[in-house]
Amino acid sequence: MKLRLLFAFFKFILNLCCHQNGTINRRLINFLDLKSPPSKTPRNGVISSDTVIDASRDLWFRLFTPAATVLAGGSVPVIVYFHGGGFALSSPSSFAYDDWCRELVRELRCALVSVNYRLAPEHRCPTQYEDGFDALKFLDDNEDKLPVYVNPKLCFLAGDSAGGNLAHNVVVKAGEHEFSRLKLIGLIAIQPFFGGKERTESEIRNPGRPLLSLKDTDWYWRAFLPNGSDRDHPAANVFGPNSSVDISRVKYPATLILTGGLDILNDWQRKYYDGLKKAGKEVDLVEDPNSFHGSYMFHELPGSYFFIKEIQNFMQKQLV
Ligand SMILES: *[C@@H]1O[C@H](CO)[C@@H](O)[C@H](O)[C@H]1NC(C)=O
Ligand SMILES: *[C@@H]1O[C@H](CO)[C@@H](O)[C@H](O)[C@H]1NC(C)=O
Ligand SMILES: *[C@@H]1O[C@H](CO)[C@@H](O)[C@H](O)[C@H]1NC(C)=O
Repeated sequence: MKLRLLFAFFKFILNLCCHQNGTINRRLINFLDLKSPPSKTPRNGVISSDTVIDASRDLWFRLFTPAATVLAGGSVPVIVYFHGGGFALSSPSSFAYDDWCRELVRELRCALVSVNYRLAPEHRCPTQYEDGFDALKFLDDNEDKLPVYVNPKLCFLAGDSAGGNLAHNVVVKAGEHEFSRLKLIGLIAIQPFFGGKERTESEIRNPGRPLLSLKDTDWYWRAFLPNGSDRDHPAANVFGPNSSVDISRVKYPATLILTGGLDILNDWQRKYYDGLKKAGKEVDLVEDPNSFHGSYMFHELPGSYFFIKEIQNFMQKQLV
C-alpha cells in the first residue's frame, strides 16, 4: 500500500535526522521538508499570505482564508493554529501542514492563522509557548494585520500533536492577560502530545505505531524539555506530580479533544480530559477508534473527515 511506503520513508528520514545524542541535522531536515509557498490566487477555494511578527526569532504566520468570504464581504471566525512535529519539526509552509490547514479552512469556512514558532532542540521549552502567546498578542495589538472580514471576538485556538500541547499552554498564559480585541471561545486539541514518566497502557499496547513510536516520543521530550528535567515536567505531564498551575483557577475556554483508539498517546490524552473535567472545565472527548497518531493528515483515510466534522460541530456550538 502506498501509505505504508510513505510511513516507512518518513521513519527512515527521522532516524537519519534525529540523532541519539539529542541533536538534529537541521540542514538535512529543512532540505527534505517540502515547502508550499503562500498563494494569493485561490487554490481549492482558499487563499493564503505570510506575515512577519518578529524577524529576529523567525516568528511569523500564514493566514488562510476562504476566497468566497472575501468576495461576499461576510465575517468569519478565526482559528489560531499550532502545527505538530514533536516541537522539533515542520512549519506552516511544510507541504503537509499547508495542505491540512487549507482543508480545514475549506471545510470549516473560517480564517486560520498558522504560527511559525521556534523549534527544539535548538530552542527548548518554554520558548514555543512564548512564541505562541506572542503571536496571539500581536493579532490583538495589530488590527490591520487581519482582514476586516475576520472577527477577532470569535477566536479558537487549535493544534495537533505537539501543537495541541502548545495550545493548552498558550491558553494558560492567555488566562493571565487581558486582550483588547481577541476573545478565545474554544480550544481544539487534535491528538495532543502529553506525557509523563509512567508508561501507560496505550504506550505499552501500541509501542511502534506507524508514525509515532515510544522511542520517538522519548526523543521529542528529551529535545524539548529543559536540560535535566524528566517527563514529569509540567509541560509534558500537565496534571502530574510536578504540575504547578491550578487549572480550576485559569480562564479556560470550552475544549474539544480528538483522540485515536490506536494512538500511543491515547491514555495521556484521557488524563488531560480527566484533569480538565476535574477542574470544572467544559470539555468533550471524541475518539475515532481506528485512528493512529497523525492519521488525520491523510485524506485517504476516513478518520481525517471524521475529525473535521467533529471540529465543525464543536465550532458551531460555540458560535450560537
Ligand atoms: C551527535 O551525533 C551525530 C550523528 O551521529 C554527530 O554527527 C554529531 O556530531 C553528534 N553531536 C554531538 C554534540 O555529539
Ligand atoms: C542543554 O544541553 C545541550 C546539549 O546537551 C547544550 O548544547 C545546551 O547548551 C544546554 N543548555 C543549557 C541551557 O544548559
Ligand atoms: C516532581 O515531583 C516528585 C514527586 O512529588 C518530586 O519527588 C520531585 O522532586 C519533583 N521534581 C521536580 C523537578 O520538581
